[in-house]
Amino acid sequence: MTECFLSDPAWVFSADDGDPFRDHSTESRFAISNGFLGVKGGDGESGFWVAGLFDTPASDRTVPELMAVPDWFRVRLHPAPETVVPRLDMRRGTLLTEQRHPGFHVRSLRLVSQADRRIGLLTARIEIARDMDEIRLDATPEMGGVRLVPEGAGTRVTPRSGKRIRIGTRTSLTSGGLEIASEATDIWRWRPRAGQVVVFQRLIVVAREAPVPVPVPVPVPVQMPDLAGFVRADIVTAHQSAWDDRWHASDIEIGGDPAAQQAIRFAAYHMNSAANPDDPYVSVGARALTGADYRGHVFWDTEIFLLPFYTMTWPAAARSLLMYRFHTLKGARAKARGMGFRGAMYAWESADTGFETTPEQVETEEHRIVDVLTGKQEQHISADIAYAVWQYWLMTNDEAFLRDAGAEILLETARFWSSRAVGEADGQCHIRGVIGPDEYHEHVDDNAYTNVMARWNIRRGLDAAALLRERWPDRWAELSASLDLTDREMADWRDTAGRLAVHFDPATGLFEQFEGYFGLEDIDVTAYPERKMPFDVLFGRERTQGSQLVKQADVVALAALLPEEFPAGSAAANYRYYEPRCGHGSSLSPAMHGLVAARLGDPDTALRYFRETASIDLAAEARAAGRGVHMAALGGLWMLVVSGFAGVSAGGDYLAIDPKLPAAWDRIAFRVEWRGRRFRIVATCDTAEVVLESGEQTMVAVRGTLYAAVPGETIRVAIAVPASLNALQR
Ligand code: IFM
Repeated sequence: MTECFLSDPAWVFSADDGDPFRDHSTESRFAISNGFLGVKGGDGESGFWVAGLFDTPASDRTVPELMAVPDWFRVRLHPAPETVVPRLDMRRGTLLTEQRHPGFHVRSLRLVSQADRRIGLLTARIEIARDMDEIRLDATPEMGGVRLVPEGAGTRVTPRSGKRIRIGTRTSLTSGGLEIASEATDIWRWRPRAGQVVVFQRLIVVAREAPVPVPVPVPVPVQMPDLAGFVRADIVTAHQSAWDDRWHASDIEIGGDPAAQQAIRFAAYHMNSAANPDDPYVSVGARALTGADYRGHVFWDTEIFLLPFYTMTWPAAARSLLMYRFHTLKGARAKARGMGFRGAMYAWESADTGFETTPEQVETEEHRIVDVLTGKQEQHISADIAYAVWQYWLMTNDEAFLRDAGAEILLETARFWSSRAVGEADGQCHIRGVIGPDEYHEHVDDNAYTNVMARWNIRRGLDAAALLRERWPDRWAELSASLDLTDREMADWRDTAGRLAVHFDPATGLFEQFEGYFGLEDIDVTAYPERKMPFDVLFGRERTQGSQLVKQADVVALAALLPEEFPAGSAAANYRYYEPRCGHGSSLSPAMHGLVAARLGDPDTALRYFRETASIDLAAEARAAGRGVHMAALGGLWMLVVSGFAGVSAGGDYLAIDPKLPAAWDRIAFRVEWRGRRFRIVATCDTAEVVLESGEQTMVAVRGTLYAAVPGETIRVAIAVPASLNALQR
């Protein structure tokens, strides 16, 4: 196993920060996952999750949570090791842990297979340094907080939702190839001798019944493969080869900045770990399967911050995540109906069924009960999902997806917005009483992000209808009949989109974040450089709500997603206005700012935001280290490099790139997939290269000029950046 202990910091994330008092053993950033199974890092606090296994933890609670299952990945030694150093081998998707005690040295390896997602492996090699009276090894599973109900033959059931899983294990402890007799099931005790090498091995196989997108699961037998059929070496080889494929498609090389290199690999590692292209009934939660924060719930984070990565490096995973939204349309329709609207209004927080799972109240750290309004008012998620569907369609040309699933999402969300926007005496249609991405302001009217995205959503719904009608008339006939969708209703949609209120001032080029925003108290966030707490805590809720303080990118996020909605020069004007008013009270915020700054020609500001985003999970004092990694921030980091620094845009007729690297970086290199083709892109401060590695010849745009991309030939373009380009310095 020695060869596994790598020292390359670009590929290995290590907790060797020299702080002997810091306990790294429970940290989520060392988590291993394959989109089906997820195990928290280290040897401390347990955390083992199976995707889709939601239940309500108590009969008096209504919000479902992702249940922790018995954790078979932990081994406890007595006497306990004095130091524990985890290393995440990102290249091979394994967690390597070193534990030391004066009498022994343990090196262990954990993985959950990328090749066969049912399988987990834990091996530990214990080298004895001196004769000792006894070592006790306890490998019984840790049960976690809420217990699953045993149902015989390894099957366990969630107590309230009745979901079944089966967990099978094969465990051995050997010395010199001979089994050490166990004292009790999964517990061993022996007298160690200097020089002895003891090897612990455990194979874990998990099967879950098919998750069903309705509240009452159908009890189906959970198929468990024969454990005897698995061979350790084969499992490791297949797993590493699956990771080779993932890295080939998704690695980004950054030259000249080792910390940035490690950060982008860390981001890609967790995104590659989080998705499962074979399960269209689950999605990636805000913390994926790395920690218990947000109860495993799925937010707009997935569609807006993660889908770009999956769509361009792993389209099969992207498709599966969008199919989860297709399969949860029933819940979205129920929410719309329940609130008096039509179509599909997606849950702000979604679990397995798609019914709204946002808690209505939470208890603060000061033990105050506060109402949570996001479940009712943060409605932009429906347009965010439609946005991801359309981007996926544009970038993959996946006709079967659009025809059979995507179009229905676009139509039902368009229908929702058309019923949600109400025509008023001023001749405009208004969307009143919402929360935009900036969650500091509640009950606002005509939030710019929401309204522009809603208008765009309605128009894409109409585009989808036209496409279906033209290309697949039979499917159109069937779908429009099942949705009871008429030309007359769609004419109303067009009218609503044309009249949607958007407060844009052509004189200043500014979008007003919502009606009345510009009249609120103006607070300059840069006047509080020593601030240690979020602004809403510093100023209190009321003052924050009455001010122009923004929690996270809102109009700036709109500029990142729909730059075409910003007339010339106005993206920069909006960035300049909103950036100094943003407190970045959410981990989603810095990357969006960085992306827009990079596009506007300020790569050095963008690099500052890159570092800020990277530090959310990587800084020694990383926020919420044990409660899960911040998936949206990790996705945002990837977007910042690919759409920001490399200037990739893939939603038009051609793949386009427009690189602007920060001065501190020598080079970036990566691959993207686009409409069945794979491109390799390499950019330095003065050249951009594109190679079409696979797929049919096409055109690519480099800095606005079209070139023919012929398979295997390199397009090389000089990119001297004119000093005037930086729109933000003016
Ligand atoms: O979706 C986000 C939201 O925008 C801000 N609060 C945290 C959520 C989950 O990451």
